Amino acid sequence: MRIPNHIVDQVRDTADILSIVQDYVRLKQVGNNYIGLCPFHEEKTPSFNVNPAKGYYKCFGCGKGGNVFNFVMEIERLLFVDAVRWLAERVGITIPTQVGDREDYDKKEIVFHALRFAAKYYAEQLLHPHFGLHAIEYLRGRGLTDQTIERFKLGYAPNAWDGLLKAAARESISPETLVRAGLIKKRDDSQGYYDRLRNRVIFPITSHVGRIIGFGGRVFTPDDKAPKYINSPDTEIYHKSNVLYGLYQAKHEARKEDRVLLVEGYTDVLALYQAGFGAVACCGTALTPSQVKLMGRYVNEIRLLYDADSAGQTANERAIDHVLQNGLDASVVSLPEGEDPDSFVLGHGAETFRDYLQRESKDWMESMVAKAMSNHLLDSPRGKREEIAKVAKRISWVQDDLLRKLYIQKASGLFGIHEGDIAQEVIAQARGRQAKTPQAVAPPPENSSIVEEIPVEQKLLLKVMIDYGGSMIKFIMGYTGIHEFKEGACRELANALVKIYEEYQDQSLKVIQDGHFEVSETAQQLMATLMIEQHHVSPRWSDLKVTVPPLHEDVQRVAEESMLVMKRKSNHKNIRELERQILSAQDGSEKQMKLQQEYAKMREKRIKLQDRGIFYAGE
Ligand code: UTP
Ligand code: MN
Repeated sequence: MRIPNHIVDQVRDTADILSIVQDYVRLKQVGNNYIGLCPFHEEKTPSFNVNPAKGYYKCFGCGKGGNVFNFVMEIERLLFVDAVRWLAERVGITIPTQVGDREDYDKKEIVFHALRFAAKYYAEQLLHPHFGLHAIEYLRGRGLTDQTIERFKLGYAPNAWDGLLKAAARESISPETLVRAGLIKKRDDSQGYYDRLRNRVIFPITSHVGRIIGFGGRVFTPDDKAPKYINSPDTEIYHKSNVLYGLYQAKHEARKEDRVLLVEGYTDVLALYQAGFGAVACCGTALTPSQVKLMGRYVNEIRLLYDADSAGQTANERAIDHVLQNGLDASVVSLPEGEDPDSFVLGHGAETFRDYLQRESKDWMESMVAKAMSNHLLDSPRGKREEIAKVAKRISWVQDDLLRKLYIQKASGLFGIHEGDIAQEVIAQARGRQAKTPQAVAPPPENSSIVEEIPVEQKLLLKVMIDYGGSMIKFIMGYTGIHEFKEGACRELANALVKIYEEYQDQSLKVIQDGHFEVSETAQQLMATLMIEQHHVSPRWSDLKVTVPPLHEDVQRVAEESMLVMKRKSNHKNIRELERQILSAQDGSEKQMKLQQEYAKMREKRIKLQDRGIFYAGE
């Protein structure tokens, strides 16, 4: 079905690309852009850019880019029409439907529609002055406010076998669709269907972008002998292992704190949300790697709040391993005996809870060592050695270089062993893994520091060429040679820019910005970084008697001064090198004479560079 153009425009204008992308990528603001790790290809250095003002995104690593529709199509694997619908639903724009449209819907959309309808139905039942009364009293009795109830779209499934079935029929939602949505079941005698959830308070489960995908239902009358919770089964759109209850609502707080609390129950999520914490729960399964990755889009740290019992502890350990293996940091808070987060917040208030978290939270290492100690595992040298190995293995999973170093330091303190010994064990553990599964090993840490190693003046030169294209490439290359750029990514990029200029002249800028040229991944990363890096600060090379103005003020001067610095540095290096060679050559030899001549030339050049002669008289 066609969606009217004015609606498409309206959706595009209303949907904020930044907030949409942020549901998938953790972004950091750099000037007018936001950058992060590309969701479309594997990378360790961010080359994915979002420009909210212009409403587009672009990855300089894999080249993918476009507007908000392209992003949704790519990441949710939707056709254009469905991407528009998907966005419309999120920003609250109604797309007019016509009779007969339903058949044209993507198959899954029918199921989403049924789930949306069911949530609305349950919510209405909860507010029904007669049928929903006990249910809403129960929720209020647990300290939940009407705002929280509404925010989480809580509901009530009435005490009937066909409440939902009938209501859905009135909306022409077929039993087949309800079965696919996991809402009803076929009767054993095959004579029709019955509602899966009856006489329960309902907790709708949403995806991280807020689409309803399943339900949990809890008994709430004391005499009810039925299982405490009944949950939707896995369906074609609800995969428990990929979903976290409450993530959609917790996002905001979590991002602010750069941390999310992982709890066990639906009610814990609700109570914590209400107390101002970003909390999520797995829906009746153990934490999976894909759930960790999902949280990793929003935060760097997961704080586990598990019961003190031993089942909780084992789950805890496995969860921590998943967290670390997926590049996030883990901390643990164990609650007082017999309390869960919900009862704690309800009993002691949000402030006391916050204090408790602050006081009692241990990072994963402290919690491991504390447990080992209380089990007397550190009493013998052999036991201690084993624990060090375990801790070192986990340190080797930490991807952030600095954080890994800090953990090595910490382990050294906790075990009373030299840092060097811990570091060695970390390497050994990482190697052990390499022997078994080569792909699981973290890449060499040098990767991330490529950009920092490049001298500022060369970065500025490359940046000027990238930002201004043809005219500046011509200008800069008129005074410098590619060989003057540092070997590696830097020189490769300079070379690529010159080639573009040779081929495209005035059109170079467009070619550069579209990324239509081939360079290695490191050069791409360098380029992405330069494109988004803002050089507000004017570097002052005082010993070189050069001051670079802010880039936006005088581009040509920036280029000139940067070239001067580059040339002076290399001149300085040459002079040093020649001095060394002259001294080590045999006195009076021909070789020494030649070196002397060369030396004199370099000295002359140095004077020229000092009075800036190069830009007026050539070299
Ligand atoms: P809890 O028994 O701790 O329940 O189960 P709760 O969420 O704290 O609820 P209240 O406070 O007693 O009302 C923790 C989680 O385990 C899953 C649910 O996701 C629940 O939130 N669970 C528990 C089930 O799926 N089925 C069950 O029968 C019990
Ligand atoms: Mn509870």
